[in-house]
Amino acid sequence: MKIKKICCIGAGYVGGPTMSVIADKNPGIQVTVVDINEARIKAWNSENLDELPVYEPGLSEVVARARGRNLFFSTEIEKNIDEAEMIFISVNTPTKTYGKGKNMAADLKYVELCARQIANVATSDKIVVEKSTLPVRTAQAIKTILDQTGNGVKFQILSNPEFLAEGTAIQDLEQADRVLIGGEQSAEGKQAIQALVDIYAAWLPQENILTTNVWSSELSKLTANAFLAQRVSSINAISELCEATGADVSEVAKAIGMDSRIGPKFLKASVGFGGSCFQKDILNLVYIAKSLGLDNVADYWEQVIIMNDHQKRRFAENIVSTLFNTVSGKKIAFLGWAFKKDTNDTRESAAIYVADLLLEEQAEIQVYDPKVKPHQIYTDLNALNTRTEEENKAQLQVVNNPYEACKDAHAIAVLTEWDEFTTYDWKRIYDTMKKPAFVFDGRKILKEEELKAIGFEYYAIGKA
Ligand code: UDX
Ligand code: ADP
Repeated sequence: MKIKKICCIGAGYVGGPTMSVIADKNPGIQVTVVDINEARIKAWNSENLDELPVYEPGLSEVVARARGRNLFFSTEIEKNIDEAEMIFISVNTPTKTYGKGKNMAADLKYVELCARQIANVATSDKIVVEKSTLPVRTAQAIKTILDQTGNGVKFQILSNPEFLAEGTAIQDLEQADRVLIGGEQSAEGKQAIQALVDIYAAWLPQENILTTNVWSSELSKLTANAFLAQRVSSINAISELCEATGADVSEVAKAIGMDSRIGPKFLKASVGFGGSCFQKDILNLVYIAKSLGLDNVADYWEQVIIMNDHQKRRFAENIVSTLFNTVSGKKIAFLGWAFKKDTNDTRESAAIYVADLLLEEQAEIQVYDPKVKPHQIYTDLNALNTRTEEENKAQLQVVNNPYEACKDAHAIAVLTEWDEFTTYDWKRIYDTMKKPAFVFDGRKILKEEELKAIGFEYYAIGKA
C-alpha cells in the first residue's frame, strides 16, 4: 500500500518538525498538519520564517523547501482527516492534574478526542499512528473507540514513538538512531507497518527501522526516556557528593564516560532536567507499575524524579545561603529560562522552580533568555499558583539584553546552557553588579578561572 496523503493532528513541537521532515523527504506525499489552535497554524504559515511557532535549528530551511509544495498547515481538521490514508496523532499528553492518577498518569483526553473525531468523519479505511507519548496499551483504547463506529471503515493502529530531542530535532529526524514502529502482527497489521516503513525508508537505512508489537513499542518509549533521565539524576546525585568532597563532576563524568559500557553522553550535571517528556514519562511508568502492584519497580523509578526535584531545590537554597541567608529585596539575574539550549520550549524547565523558590524568599528576578518570550515566562510562573499574576509581575522582570539583566544584581544564576553566555564581556557585567558579585553556574559552562580573576565569587554545580 502506497500512502499519498498524510494528516497529522497536532502542530506542536513533535508534529510540526516531524511532518516537515517527512514531507521534505517524501515529495510525492501530501502532508497536512492540522490543529485546533488557529494562531499556531497561522504562525506555521507565516511568510517570515522567524515567526514559526517552534524554534529548532534547521527547521525553517526544511519548511521553506516543503511548505506549499507538499507540506501544508491547516485548521480544516475534518476534511484533512477524511482525505488522508494515514493519520498521525501528535497532540499533547500532559500529566493529569485532577482525579484518579492526579500528578502521575498521562491525561489522554486530547488523544481520545482525536480518536473520536477520526471515528466520526472517516469514510474510508485509515492507518492511525500514535506519535504522542502514551501509556502502554493506549493503542488498544484508540482501536476500541475507532472500531465502535459501525460504518464499515477499517482502522489499523500503529505506535511510532518520537525520539527527537528538542534543539536537535531536525538532525535527530534526518539521522535517526532508529525509528520504532509497533503494529498488530496480523496480515493487515503487517501491511500497515510496511506502509509506514516505506515513508521512513525514503531517507533512513532499513536496518535502522525496527518493527515490534504495539506494546513493546509503547513501553520502549517510556523506558528510553526513563533511562536517559536516570543518567542525569545519577550524575546530579554525584554532583552533590563532588561539592562536598572536592571532586569535580566534569572530571568524574569524563572518567566514567570513557568506559565504553557507560559511554560519554548524557552525563552533564545540571540544575535538573526539564522538558515535556522526562518527568511525565517516568511518572507514567511509576503509575503503570503501581497499578500493576509492582511497588518495587515503581519506587525504583520514582527516585529519579525525587533526585531531580532535590537538585532544583538545592540550587535555589544554595543561592540563598551563600547570599548571607537572605535574598529579600536582592536582585538576581537569570540567564536562560528554556529547559535546554537551542529551543524556546520552557515546559518543566528547572528555571521555573528555582525562580519560584527565590520569589518566595522575596528576591527580585531579572530574566534574559535568547528565545523565550516574556508572556511565556509569566504563564509558567502563574501556572504554579504560588503567587498572583500581579505579584509575579512586580517581582520578576523580563529583559531582552543580558547586560541589563545583570545590572545592579547581587548574583547571576545560569539556568540554561546557551552558547552565547560563554561569549559575554564578563568584566563589563562585573563592573555593573553589586559586590561581592556572585555567579551560580547551574550548567557549569562558564570559565571559572576567568571569572574568579575578574573578581566574581563563582559557584558551579558539581564542584567545591
Ligand atoms: C527527550 C529525549 O532525549 C528524546 O529522545 C525524547 O523523544 C523526548 O525527551 P528532550 O526533552 O527534548 O528530549 O531533551 P533532552 O536533550 O533529552 O534533555 C532533557 C533535559 O535533560 C534537559 O533539561 C537537559 O538540559 C537535561 N540534561 C540532558 C542534563 O541535565 N544533562 C545531560 O547530560 C543531558
Ligand atoms: P508536543 O510537544 O507533544 O508536540 P504541543 O503541546 O507542542 O505538544 O502540541 C500539541 C498540539 O496539539 C497543540 O498545538 C494543540 O493545540 C494540538 N491539539 C490538541 N488536541 C487537538 C485536537 N483534538 N485537534 C487538533 N489539534 C489538537
